[in-house]
Amino acid sequence: MDRRSFLAAAAATFVLPAPATTSARTLARDPFKLGIASGDPSTDGFVLWTRLALDPLGANGRGAMPSRDVEVDWQLSADERFGKILRSGTATARWKDAHSVHVELDGLEPGREYFYRFRAEGRLSPTGRTRTAPSGATQPLAFAVAACAHYEHGFYTAYRRLAEQEPDLVLFLGDYLYEYGPSGYTALAGRVRTHTPGKCATLADYRLRHAQYKSDADLQRAHAVAPWLVSFDDHELENNWAGPVSSTGAPAFAHRRASAFRAYYENMPLRRASLQGAVLRVNRRVSWGTLARFHLLDTRQFRDDQACLDGVRAGCDERLSERRTLLGGDQWRWLSDGLRASTTQWNLLGQQILMMQRDYKRGPGREVNLDAWDGYAAERTRLLELMSTTSNPVVLTGDAHMHHAASLKLNFDDPDSPVIAPELVASSIASDGDGYRDKVWIEEGLAENPHISYIDQRRGYIMARLNSTELSAEFRTLEYISRRGAPAKTTHRVTVPTSAP
Ligand SMILES: [Fe+2]
Repeated sequence: MDRRSFLAAAAATFVLPAPATTSARTLARDPFKLGIASGDPSTDGFVLWTRLALDPLGANGRGAMPSRDVEVDWQLSADERFGKILRSGTATARWKDAHSVHVELDGLEPGREYFYRFRAEGRLSPTGRTRTAPSGATQPLAFAVAACAHYEHGFYTAYRRLAEQEPDLVLFLGDYLYEYGPSGYTALAGRVRTHTPGKCATLADYRLRHAQYKSDADLQRAHAVAPWLVSFDDHELENNWAGPVSSTGAPAFAHRRASAFRAYYENMPLRRASLQGAVLRVNRRVSWGTLARFHLLDTRQFRDDQACLDGVRAGCDERLSERRTLLGGDQWRWLSDGLRASTTQWNLLGQQILMMQRDYKRGPGREVNLDAWDGYAAERTRLLELMSTTSNPVVLTGDAHMHHAASLKLNFDDPDSPVIAPELVASSIASDGDGYRDKVWIEEGLAENPHISYIDQRRGYIMARLNSTELSAEFRTLEYISRRGAPAKTTHRVTVPTSAP
């Protein structure tokens, strides 16, 4: 059996005895309609995730599950046939947690591939592949970067193509789902499918929307192939929210935020410690031996409100204020301490919004996006100064719905200002539909922003390979997503040697 076929393989006999507590009960149908996932690898473990649903679109986001807790067995094996079970156990999928399961494993061997699966009341889940992070010197790392997957705007072919490349790790940098009601945000190419009713506002709304997204087979495949490092941006809650502030004046926003966070945690392979009361803590570090450390940032939850009423604007002095923060004081200290203390060869900052300066106005003058780092320019300068003393920093970004490759500089307006780090921006998986390639618009954008070397308005993801001498990143691009079956092609390649950022 080749590596790819494990997903389709018929399940071998599940050798665990049935737990006595559930022996008299059976679920009427397959409860694994939302798939399985793993995430946050350490050198000795990871998180295994599933959430039971008999019908993803069941009322109140409850997946048509019975109103009781359900025992879920799990198994871990070194081979996809489960010939030898290395670990097994039972977790409880609680009614109060929308029947989600988060199993955190430790004590495993570093740098190894593992296979896992679940069973609930006689029903067997698909099999997933995951891995522990290596320790010490390590083999090259292959990782994918993805963001922004509006369900209505197109099919998730990009997730499928990403899965086919079998990365060791997947970084997801925000807008995993969108909160809008049906056609609440339309793409040029129209919509190929329809959101669940209404704009998300309640816990039930967010649970239901997550279940709708998770029911997609291409997305399930991408989760099953590798562990993910997930972080959210704005649309997992509401467009362009900022810390405690709703961009739309939504009533009881603190409650809405807590509901969105809870549903996000329930539906993602995050560690239990991430949900800290009203805070969802996703800024964290994952190390890959001595090769690399990922610093995942949260550029949404702890930020000051956008300057000058938000939007893409010219002439906003407030955005330059030294007092403004995007990361918040605690996260800033956490990041600066972590970058100073890091001993790995590479330091990869996974974050949500464009860090580069980006002038959207053609010709004289400048218009910038006040929701991105341009709206928090003084803190950006402080971070770039810090990164200038960091070993091989690389910034990985989502949000833009376009591929970008750029050089981050202390002074973007000075051609002689040294390059501090590359910024690689993954286009969207689906948001904005098929996309297009407007050569004139791109040439003008590159002329206005000489530190940018590549822009592409089509859908896709980044596939990167990292070793001790270079980072090689392929921008993977699809011609269409309004129909299924598009191939992914490498439309641009960036190579960053350790000797020159
Ligand atoms: Fe987005």
